[in-house]
Amino acid sequence: MPNAQNTSNLQTPRDPAATTRLSQWMHKRSWAIAMTVAIVITVGGLVILETARERIAAEYETALDARDVTVQLSTLASQLSNLSAQQSDFLLTKQDATAQAYCATATRIRQSEQQLNRFYRGGKADNAELTSFTQILVLIEARIGAGAAALQRAAPHPLDLAACGPLSAANPADASLVDSTLTLLRDNEERRAQHALAASRADQRISTLCAAGLSALNIVLFILLFRNLGIQIDRQARVQRQLITQQEELDQLVSERTRQLEALGWHLQAVSENEKTQLARELHDELGAILTASKMDVAWANRKLKDSAPEIADKLKRALANLDQGIALKRRIIEDMRPTVLANFGLVTALRTLADEAAQRNNWTLDLHLPADDIQLDEQTEIALFRVAQESLTNAAKYARASKVSIALEVGDGQVALHIADNGVGIMPADLKRTHTHGLLGMRQRVAAHGGRFDIRRGEPNGTDIDVMMPSVSTATPSIDLPPATPTRTPV
Ligand SMILES: Nc1ncnc2c1ncn2[C@@H]1O[C@H](COP(=O)(O)OP(=O)(O)OP(=O)(O)O)[C@@H](O)[C@H]1O
Ligand SMILES: [Mg+2]
Repeated sequence: MPNAQNTSNLQTPRDPAATTRLSQWMHKRSWAIAMTVAIVITVGGLVILETARERIAAEYETALDARDVTVQLSTLASQLSNLSAQQSDFLLTKQDATAQAYCATATRIRQSEQQLNRFYRGGKADNAELTSFTQILVLIEARIGAGAAALQRAAPHPLDLAACGPLSAANPADASLVDSTLTLLRDNEERRAQHALAASRADQRISTLCAAGLSALNIVLFILLFRNLGIQIDRQARVQRQLITQQEELDQLVSERTRQLEALGWHLQAVSENEKTQLARELHDELGAILTASKMDVAWANRKLKDSAPEIADKLKRALANLDQGIALKRRIIEDMRPTVLANFGLVTALRTLADEAAQRNNWTLDLHLPADDIQLDEQTEIALFRVAQESLTNAAKYARASKVSIALEVGDGQVALHIADNGVGIMPADLKRTHTHGLLGMRQRVAAHGGRFDIRRGEPNGTDIDVMMPSVSTATPSIDLPPATPTRTPV
């Protein structure tokens, strides 16, 4: 049973959330993992390459050493042959020179032995080779000593054979034993050279394979890198295109909304002007009639009671004066709401009247630059300019504490420019951004609604400058679904 349980545990599918997390982690870290693996493989490859290079160098050195030793062993063999030949030569000729040549050859043999000795005792040869070499040295020494002794014996007079070393009475070893041992040592060295060369060729193959593998890996990595770079660049370009499209859509939306708001502002102003006109007419017709009738009645009663009831007549006189004030107030209100001077005499006269009245009320010095003759502009444009001037002068009276106000009106080619300036305290930058007051906002909207440009700024060195530039013919085109205006009279 425990076995069955173990099997079922093994077969239980892994937690899907954990698998998803792992795959997400792998996806996020895929580049880091790939780079780490590539770096490990590259470093490993470089280590293998370096090791192989060191081994190839050592193997070449071994092969060269082995070749050197082979050559030296051959030289030794040839020197031994020379030695035998010189001994035989002396026995035949008995010449001293031949004996000296024998000793010289013995000296060269010993030099060769020393060189070989350095190699065999330098740890590069195995024990068997060292034993064979040591044996050969003994045999050669015996051979030289025995040969020198033979020369001395055969010589007709005593020879100076000190250079040959100690003479030996012993029988020299068989020459073939020395030759065969030398051949054995030579064969060994040749084998060692062959072996070292074969090993170095194998190492060269390994390093070639390793270098090829590393190059292939690098090529694959470069391909992946450039592919990924291409994907990233594509993605960025796509995102940028989307952003540009969104920006364009937003711009379009904003300009559409602005147009709608301007049209709404234009409509609201038209409605307000209409209502003002209607109210002015009501005030004029109804209240005017009532006040005038009351005034006539009170005047009649006053005349009748003047002599019989002077006290009542006095009261009626005061009532008459109040009625006069009421009528004047009514006129002023009507004039404010519907400046008849604008409707009757045009913009230039209306602006001059407005400026004169304001200057009188506020003790301003006036600087007027208005066209000499009245001008004919689009009605809507005239109203907009008049209202802007009205609000600007009201603001100057309320806030500027000015002593001088200038107004200029210029009509150009299809454009009309209005400039109003005071020399007061000057508008503050924060005032330009106000949203809870309606004067500046209303002027701006009024002008924009008719396709014009409104600009207000602090004057140099002081005061406030207002510039309005409008087309002489209004370009307002309300495109929102607005209820039709009811112009019973031209709104002013
Ligand atoms: N000629 C001026 N000199 C100095 N300050 C001014 C001038 N005109 C406007 N301002 C400043 O700008 C502010 C905004 O003016 P705006 O006409 O919009 O509002 P308001 O006159 O205070 O209120 P509303 O016009 O709605 O009755 C004013 O409160 C005032 O501080
Ligand atoms: Mg104002």
